[in-house]
Amino acid sequence: MEQLKQQIREHGIVLSAQVLKVDAFLNHQIDPALMQRIGAEFARRFAGQDIDKVVTIEVSGIAPALMTALALGVPLVFARKQQSLTLTGPLLTARVYSFTKQVESTIGIAASHLAAGERVLIVDDFLAHGQAAQGLISIVRQAGAEVAGIGIVIEKSFQPGRAELEQLGYRVESLARIASLEGGEVRFVD
Ligand code: G4P
Ligand code: NA
Ligand code: NA
Repeated sequence: MEQLKQQIREHGIVLSAQVLKVDAFLNHQIDPALMQRIGAEFARRFAGQDIDKVVTIEVSGIAPALMTALALGVPLVFARKQQSLTLTGPLLTARVYSFTKQVESTIGIAASHLAAGERVLIVDDFLAHGQAAQGLISIVRQAGAEVAGIGIVIEKSFQPGRAELEQLGYRVESLARIASLEGGEVRFVD
């Protein structure tokens, strides 16, 4: 998606050979017009997949996932990372290990917000090692729902997340694929 790549070129900051900072439009300040286009693009790519629901994880997945859900005309559910006061009743959970933070955490979605047989599109802002996506897949499957696809805004293709998800048989659509961040420079796949 050319407009996204343009934003990354103009406003992305390479923090290391592993980490790209995009706080100017995605992870802190949010560009609503860009999010709207991202949502429309995911809706286009997954049209005909009979998506019933979009699922993401707080915090930074919510903006692109919300615009995707709006474009598809379906609800969005986000997994919580922390227990909420109002989150009562049965909870579907998964343990997620973060390579970036080197900590394991539990994510959860109330069982009442996912139904057996639903077709779910998972959306997230970044794909690195794929741990967040695999945690969401686990929760969707615990509900008896089906993962119809995975939409990623920025994929770091030099990390193993995409290959592992594809190995498991999932369709991954990434709007920007980064081949390398070496030398302080963003290089895209293709
Ligand atoms: P994984 O899910 O693909 O295995 O990734 P990992 O554990 O490494 O990611 C932990 C957090 O860091 C996630 O956000 C993820 O989106 C983010 N992240 C990973 N690589 C990058 C990167 O190169 N740039 C940026 N900006 N973020 C990256 P999080 O902790 O859940 O944060 P938030 O969504 O609550 O803001
Ligand atoms: Na993030
Ligand atoms: Na995220």
